[in-house]
Amino acid sequence: MPAASLRVFLSAAQIRTRIEEMGKQITADYPAGTPLYLVGILKGSVVFLSDLARAIKLPVRFEFIGLSSYGKDKTTSGEVQLTKDLGTSVEGADILIVEDIVDSGVTLTYLLQVLKQRKPRSIQIATLLDKPDRRQRPIDVAYVGFQIPNEFVVGYGLDYAEDYRNLPDICILEP
Ligand code: PRP
Repeated sequence: MPAASLRVFLSAAQIRTRIEEMGKQITADYPAGTPLYLVGILKGSVVFLSDLARAIKLPVRFEFIGLSSYGKDKTTSGEVQLTKDLGTSVEGADILIVEDIVDSGVTLTYLLQVLKQRKPRSIQIATLLDKPDRRQRPIDVAYVGFQIPNEFVVGYGLDYAEDYRNLPDICILEP
């Protein structure tokens, strides 16, 4: 692990409470009769998706797509790479994209374009964190856990150079 200081920004308890609320809202917004396809963007969304899914009281399916634009940097390269595609057709399905953080919006702009070509019935986005000050592309996000300032955060799935993803809290990484 690199030497750096971590300051708790959102505790595991705060995150849990907010995800319960998000789950209730999503449960109320979708029909109960058909599965909701949760599409998690690897790798950062994995922890959030696993908790959000259990807060949604509807039948859900798990799908994952691999996208990466940051590499080892703290800012987006602006170029998104598809590293893993969905494992199934989503034609006619209700898709809820599950993200850990929306920053520039570059990743989601790319993903929305890819998924719309697959002809789903609907596509919405749930993100745990939103950094609106950093947006370069406008993105319509239906479910936001927390709006946060422009600080570099790690933990609860979020990494810096692949470290810190398993921290239970979301922390500010100070060099
Ligand atoms: C992070 C994060 C989002 C994306 C958001 O992914 O998980 O997918 O950046 O940034 P943007 O709005 O500026 O596009 P990253 O590329 O770091 O991959 P990771 O999920 O594997 O950490």
